[in-house]
Amino acid sequence: MKLEIYHILHVFALFVLAVHTYMALANPDPANRKRTLMITGIATLLVLVTGAGMVTVMAFSWASGWIIVKLLCWLGFSALAGMAYRKAHLRGVLSLVGLALLLVALVMVYIKRV
Ligand code: HEM
Repeated sequence: MKLEIYHILHVFALFVLAVHTYMALANPDPANRKRTLMITGIATLLVLVTGAGMVTVMAFSWASGWIIVKLLCWLGFSALAGMAYRKAHLRGVLSLVGLALLLVALVMVYIKRV
């Protein structure tokens, strides 16, 4: 697949993942749980697959620090939507943790380019 497609799908899936995660954190109504977890599940898989595609196409090493940090941020952020429903009383903290994870994953992309 063309590299540009990976880039676009990676960022688009991140938008979908972040928007639906924060919708769950803002309003963890059990009526929306199934739909939210389905959408975030698909989006997070797409983030991983497109990220892995770029690692392969651009011949980055899976052992490089920035990739490992991004994988950890991805893992942590992907858990937030589910936690929003199970630990609704922690929504404030979870929202901040989510922002921190997104920021760290973002910084990794640009730090490694310096
Ligand atoms: C919360 C998780 C993540 C965030 C917020 C994130 C964010 C981003 C952003 C904003 C870009 C720049 C896109 C562009 O330049 O077009 C990017 C690129 C990239 N991401 Fe992610 N990403 C995440 C997870 C992952 C994961 C899990 C992987 C690996 C499996 C990954 C691998 C990559 C690679 C290889 C690039 C291309 C870097 C380059 O162009 O030099 N990302 N990511």
